[in-house]
Amino acid sequence: MIDLRSDTVTRPTEEMRRAIAAAEVGDDVFGEDPTINELQRRVATLLGKEEALFLPSGTMANVVSVMAQTSPGTEVILEEGCHIYNFESGSSARFSGVQFRLVSSRDGSFTADDVDRLVRDDNVHLPPTALIAMENTHNKAGGTLFPVEAMEGIGRYAEERGIKVHLDGARLWNASAATGIPLSRYAAAADSVSVCLSKGLGAPAGSLVAGGRSFIRKAHRIRKMLGGGMRQAGILAAAGLYALDHHVDRLADDHANAKLIADAFASLPGVDVDLDRTETNIVLADVSNHPFGEAKIIDALKRRDVLVLAIDTGLLRAVTSLEVTSEQAAEAASIIRETLIP
Ligand SMILES: Cc1ncc(COP(=O)(O)O)c(C=O)c1O
Repeated sequence: MIDLRSDTVTRPTEEMRRAIAAAEVGDDVFGEDPTINELQRRVATLLGKEEALFLPSGTMANVVSVMAQTSPGTEVILEEGCHIYNFESGSSARFSGVQFRLVSSRDGSFTADDVDRLVRDDNVHLPPTALIAMENTHNKAGGTLFPVEAMEGIGRYAEERGIKVHLDGARLWNASAATGIPLSRYAAAADSVSVCLSKGLGAPAGSLVAGGRSFIRKAHRIRKMLGGGMRQAGILAAAGLYALDHHVDRLADDHANAKLIADAFASLPGVDVDLDRTETNIVLADVSNHPFGEAKIIDALKRRDVLVLAIDTGLLRAVTSLEVTSEQAAEAASIIRETLIP
C-alpha cells in the first residue's frame, strides 16, 4: 500500500525503534526522565523559548495552551478552518470556557488588520479578546504557509494590546523546511507554540509546547489536571530526539513528492488542484467535477494500492511522509493518472 491518507500513519523505523529501546528513563511526573528533559531543552532552544513541555498529543498541547492563556468567558480569535476550531472535539471551548471569533481565509493565514476588525472594544457587553491562534502549516487549507511577516505583524499588534498569541505549529517543521526560515523566527511571533513529533517527523506519539517560564508552569499544572502526566515516557522522547536528528532534513523530499502527486491530479480533466498552494506535504484535489465522484475515486485507487482520504464533499487529500519513498510517490502519480482518466 502507498498510504497517502496522512503523515500521522508513519511507523517508527528500525533505527528509531533502537533509539526507543536504548532510552534512559525515569518518572517524568517527578521531573526525573532524562530523555524527556533533554528533548524539552532541545525543543525550547530550537523554538527560542525559555522552556518546553512534553505532552501526549497535539490536541492536548493546543488545549493546554489555550487554557493557560485565557479565562472562562473570554474570546479567542482564530481562522475558520483551523485544527483547534474544527478537529479537536471542541476541547478548547469545553475546557477553557472560551468562545471563538473566526477569521475567514482561503489559505489559512490572516493579518493584523484582519485581527483588528475582530478584537473587542473595552465594553462590559463584550467578551474580552484574550488570545489569537495561528496555524502553520495549515492542515485543512492543504499544508499552506502562513507568511512569517504576517505572523510578526500579528505578534506586534497583540503585544501592544496585551493579547496573547498561540501558534499551532504541529507542522512548523514543514514550514521551516519549505522556506528556510528558522523555527525560532516563526515562534517569536507567539507566546506559546505547539509542535508535533508524530506527523512528518515520524515518531509514534508526542508533542511539545514551548513558551516563557510562567506559561510553562501553568501548562504543566494543566497537563497534570487533564491526565497528561506520563511516567517513563522517555521511550517516546527518544523517538522524538531521533527524529530531530534524522527526519527533519528529509522533509524537503516529502515536499518534492507532494508536487509529483499534485501534478498528477492537476493533469486530469474534472480535477482542480491549486498548484501554487501545494507548498509542503499536503495535496488537496477538488474532484467535484470529475465524473467518478470521490467515493469511486478512492475505491479505484485503493484497488491499485494507493490510499487517499476524502476530507470534505468532493475534496480529496493526499499527504506525503516518510512512509512514502520518492519511487512510491512517482508510482502513485502514475496510478492516479491511469486510474482517473474518465
Ligand atoms: C494542525 C494540527 N494541529 C493539531 C493536531 C492534533 O494533533 P494530534 O492528532 O496529535 O492530537 C493536528 C493533527 O493532525 C494538526 O494537523
